[in-house]
Amino acid sequence: MWLDSHCHLTADRFDEDRAFVLARAREVGVKEMVAIGSGYGIAANQAAVDLAKTEPDIYATVGVHPHEASESDENVLAKIREWSVDPKVVAIGECGLDYHYMKSHRDIQREVFAQQIALARELDMPVSIHVRGDEPDAYSEMLEIWLAEGRGEIQGVLHCYTGNLPFALLALEANFMVSFSGIVTFKNSASLREVAQGLPLERLMVETDAPFLAPEGHRGKRNEPAFVVRVGECLAELHGKELSEISQITRHNAQTFYRLGS
Ligand code: NI
Repeated sequence: MWLDSHCHLTADRFDEDRAFVLARAREVGVKEMVAIGSGYGIAANQAAVDLAKTEPDIYATVGVHPHEASESDENVLAKIREWSVDPKVVAIGECGLDYHYMKSHRDIQREVFAQQIALARELDMPVSIHVRGDEPDAYSEMLEIWLAEGRGEIQGVLHCYTGNLPFALLALEANFMVSFSGIVTFKNSASLREVAQGLPLERLMVETDAPFLAPEGHRGKRNEPAFVVRVGECLAELHGKELSEISQITRHNAQTFYRLGS
């Protein structure tokens, strides 16, 4: 039994065959999927909330992606607050800092991220974090804002983690879980596999981040939640565990993190 802790199920790349995509995931034992509301335009959060309302095994997050930070304003924050009331909305995000693409100005990214952390703290909700870029260092700036606005009172997940081990260990101390995507399976991701190996299983989650980043064996194709098993296989190998144990642990971690069924 698996839980895809981060996928973009409402992306238009699934419009033609979404029902089949969900069916394939269920067939391989994916029991829950967390549909990320942000990343495809702020208005598109609504689609994730609607999908979660109609599918019992799908949950949603709502937020403003760092790429879209320049489109955010007070009305957007009010809307996030409104969406978050739905019982199937389980987290704020994905939000964070992306200095790799820098699609929104750095100051605006920082401000919109800080606002969402403050909101998550107020609403007592976990946060899905996107962080990318070394110059300037998005990781240390993210952590600084996280500590200042979260005040140690909320939990976050570093989604699709591609950073180094020292930062991941620092993040564990700051109430973060770490989630790995298909990137960890790529042939050229040996150093990321070392990171995954160096972290305790009880703090790990698996995700696809579908429709992008299909794992090794499916590279170049559209990604989908059924492929989360491939990420789990990689973790099983790295930690010397049975696949069933990895699925059980990562699912339990994500259920606890997102407070599913509570
Ligand atoms: Ni994502």
